Amino acid sequence: MPSPSLARPALAVLLTLATACATVPSAVRPVPRDADNRELREFATATWAWRDGARVAGGDSAMVTANEPLAARVGLDVLRAGGNAVDAAVAVGFALAVTYPEAGNLGGGGFMLVRMADGRTAAFDFREMAPAAATREMFLDANGEPTDASRVGHRASGVPGSVAGLHLAHGRLGRLPWPAVVGPAIALARDGFEVDSTMEAALAGSQRLICRFAGCPVFFPEGRPAARGTRFRQPALAATLERIAAQGADGFYRGPTAEAIAAEMRRGGGLITTADLAAYRAAERRPLAGRYRDRTILTMPPVSSGGVTLLEALNVLETWPRLAPPGTTAHAHQLGAVLQRAYLDRNLRLGDPEATPLPVDELTSKAYARRLRATIPEDRATPIADIPSVLRDGPETTHFNVVDAEGNAVATTTTINDLFGSGVYVAEAGFFLNDEMDDFAARPGRPNGFGLVQGEANAIAPGKRMLSSMTPTIVLGADGRPELLVGARGGGLIISAVLQIVLNVVEHGMPLTRAIAAPRWHHQAWPDTLRYEAGGVAPDVLAELQRMGWAVRAGGTGRATAIQRRPGGGWWGAADPRRDGVAMGW
Ligand code: DON
Repeated sequence: MPSPSLARPALAVLLTLATACATVPSAVRPVPRDADNRELREFATATWAWRDGARVAGGDSAMVTANEPLAARVGLDVLRAGGNAVDAAVAVGFALAVTYPEAGNLGGGGFMLVRMADGRTAAFDFREMAPAAATREMFLDANGEPTDASRVGHRASGVPGSVAGLHLAHGRLGRLPWPAVVGPAIALARDGFEVDSTMEAALAGSQRLICRFAGCPVFFPEGRPAARGTRFRQPALAATLERIAAQGADGFYRGPTAEAIAAEMRRGGGLITTADLAAYRAAERRPLAGRYRDRTILTMPPVSSGGVTLLEALNVLETWPRLAPPGTTAHAHQLGAVLQRAYLDRNLRLGDPEATPLPVDELTSKAYARRLRATIPEDRATPIADIPSVLRDGPETTHFNVVDAEGNAVATTTTINDLFGSGVYVAEAGFFLNDEMDDFAARPGRPNGFGLVQGEANAIAPGKRMLSSMTPTIVLGADGRPELLVGARGGGLIISAVLQIVLNVVEHGMPLTRAIAAPRWHHQAWPDTLRYEAGGVAPDVLAELQRMGWAVRAGGTGRATAIQRRPGGGWWGAADPRRDGVAMGW
């Protein structure tokens, strides 16, 4: 248990509430209590703009959540037409490649986690791979310093995996014919769709990047972003999707699409060849399964770091019989200390399981969690350099979930890394390419674009997959049936976001929308700083944390979508109020 000195005294609770009342009268609500009748203190944070009523839907039978409404609607239509959750998820994946070009993709990669109603599970890994010509030092300048070529331009791209992954998942567990799940995306690309304000704004924000490459005339007709309210057609993308519908993954990895990618690479000095594309394979892996209290957590194995880090963190948190309530100093201290240790192992130990043996069993074991817990003082922060990790020996994405009426559940995260990926657009085939090479450690020990300082296990090598933080996760209730599907975007911020949403639901008994909207913490080992969302933490909690030795600063968090089982049957779906997204139930 946390020591009594860390529990916030009742007087302070009342004072904080009084301040809340005095400064923001309209924000006053009764302070709710969790299952143990403890105050859920996060409700009392006067400065937090709660938007937990945003983007929520209920459904008696089925639910889809995604970042873009037309693609979510495709998922619902596929379910109504007799498809299962895997068919719907594959169809949403292709539709997002058309309607959400900032992150949906054919030119990227991702992970899909499936739990079928009959108990079968699968984890599909369609992460990009370094091309055969990649070298360990390809992103270092003459002084050995990392350059921005891992994020912008032709060399930033790994060999795309999305089409192979969606095809593999559909072949294993889908029910409808393949053309039926690609078809809705073809129609959206060929016939067009109405541009909304979200897409117009995303394009405007990335005009400089996109207009360095071949996508400029497509997305900026007359030099301005495709305008909201206008119809946006993508005939080249429609033709690519038609090849995929007709030939399966070969419609992308061989023939005209592959040749168009390789030609674009040659034009811009990139490395991906038709041989790299023909050699790409998606992998079906066994999901990681862990226990947290009476729940089973199914999550993504390497080459995602998300599942290992999530389970490692949950295992350590479980060593406290009950976690301190959100909003308290003790809560932030527990989360900070656990994230610090779990991200330390993530950054130093994890990489492509096919290139490096990984200590997954040890990192996710309860025994290791007990050893880590013994290194956490209750009353002060531990500088990262002093953490005695027994294993230590050296130093834009989109998530969508589907559940169907039978109880099949699919959580998918897919990405081209930064918004619009590397900026490189394959004009003949109609899509952007990823800048996933930046997820490698271009120089072990130096931060990447997300500020993650990673080690040798994630150094660049030909044919290797880069480490990811994407964390599609399905929580099974005590009855063994899916209770929560969750995942997020945000690079290294994804894992801590998913962790806190799981805890908010499972440990703190919050309703889904509140669990997603609640302010979050983040720590990723380096920099050795506990980050909070501005306005989400009471000033006295921050002051107390600093007295304990934590360096604190305001920062961002991941943006999630999630589905939760309703107690009386059916589902709630919700998208993060921090970012665009929808839930659609049926
Ligand atoms: O795989 C990863 O961890 C990153 N490429 C994810 C990037 C991301 O989430 C960007 N999102 N907004």
